[in-house]
Amino acid sequence: MALFDHIRRRNPCQSSLPSLIHHLWLPNSPFSLTAHLSKIYYTVKNLSHGISRFTSLVLSLLALGLLGGCDLNTRMSTFDTKGPVAEAQLDLFMLTVWVTLFIFILVGGVYLYAVIKFRERPNDDRPLPSQGHGNPLIEIGLIGASVLLLVVIAVPTLQGIWFTHDIPEDPASKLGAWYSGEGLAEEEAENPLVIRVIGYQWWWAFEYPQLGITTANEMVIPAGKAVHLELRSVDVIHSFWLPRIAGKVDLIPGRANSMWIQAGDSYESWKTKNGHEGDTVELQTTYQEYLETEIHDYYYGQCAEYCGDSHARMLFRASVKSDEEFADWIASEKTGNSAPEGMDWTEWYAAYDSNPDQLTGDINEGLKLFMGRAKCATCHQVQGNPRALGVAGPNLTNLAARYSIAAGWLNHRAEDGSIDTEQQYENFFKWINETDVVKPGNLMWRANGGGIGELPEPLTEDEVHKLSLYLQTLQ
Ligand code: CUA
Repeated sequence: MALFDHIRRRNPCQSSLPSLIHHLWLPNSPFSLTAHLSKIYYTVKNLSHGISRFTSLVLSLLALGLLGGCDLNTRMSTFDTKGPVAEAQLDLFMLTVWVTLFIFILVGGVYLYAVIKFRERPNDDRPLPSQGHGNPLIEIGLIGASVLLLVVIAVPTLQGIWFTHDIPEDPASKLGAWYSGEGLAEEEAENPLVIRVIGYQWWWAFEYPQLGITTANEMVIPAGKAVHLELRSVDVIHSFWLPRIAGKVDLIPGRANSMWIQAGDSYESWKTKNGHEGDTVELQTTYQEYLETEIHDYYYGQCAEYCGDSHARMLFRASVKSDEEFADWIASEKTGNSAPEGMDWTEWYAAYDSNPDQLTGDINEGLKLFMGRAKCATCHQVQGNPRALGVAGPNLTNLAARYSIAAGWLNHRAEDGSIDTEQQYENFFKWINETDVVKPGNLMWRANGGGIGELPEPLTEDEVHKLSLYLQTLQ
């Protein structure tokens, strides 16, 4: 302590970096590093005294047992990759695993050897083994080895960063090469498909600017094609993570990030991987079969950056489809949803404006609530319906054709991949009736008051029922 006092006298408190560093060493300074470190040391020491060796052993075994619950092939596994980006990320991860495992075994081996060979025995009168502090050969050797291992990791890491950032120049991914549907501007034929991913608290908008449609929470992408994603956020930072295909890139307010994703290999890389050469009809058929059986699927994604109350309930999905299915999907999104009972929208609104009572039946009642008392159309858009133009909430076009609602939180996808309509009805009902319970903090009005579109009178159960029935017709 005399030393500290000496320094203190020589160096009166000043607001400079040397002074700050000096403070870290003063035992009585509020910034004292030494005091803090010793406090932490004694706390940990006292804690560990409380646990007997036996208890620690049991706890360690239990912890090991928990590892047995880890399954590498779940629907959000980064080990079961289905695309080049996720695959590159997995390769890089495995490389670091092998390098660190090598270090672990090497260092652990030497350590274990020393602990066993030089441990103290009863009545041990052997002299201390020779001490090798400061051996220049060992020190330089260790520094050199660390640098070498870091380079071994750094080179592929940088390659990986570039690979996952720049969308590959793949002629087969150009819209003109595979998109057979309508509404594609000529100047877009040379570009890959672009999807604008926009994060909201707590849901996702997916815009397809080249094709003029917008959907929410369930994106649809073509199999085997590189897709360019533009990532934006309207509120706080979110993160796009579709584990088996690609991830993670943040969505940051005031800035557009980008990444590319691809479900399955391109024709060319599939051929290279499987040792095929040339281009025959058989090869193309086999490639299509590969896409059909291994890649066409329904993938699970999740926001991977803490973004508030319902961050854990900000999920999303990606349906990977064939080129034809994709074109059909775009067409049906463009057409949107029609008015009930085969009426056209002009007709329906003429009746609604003149005398809404003439629009009868549960579906019409549901739609009247949607447009009127429940204020749904204030925040939600339904393609086709000329007065449902809200943009604050998710686009509801073909909502009933999706497999989940509430950003993936309420699911109605049956095991065979179809839609369980009973479950769907229950989910709609639950969401409208208690959105604040399903997704705490969300902006939609709550049936019991609150939210941005607070209703003067809460909806009755019968009204929630009719609204749910109407929503089930959106497909
Ligand atoms: Cu959005 Cu977490």
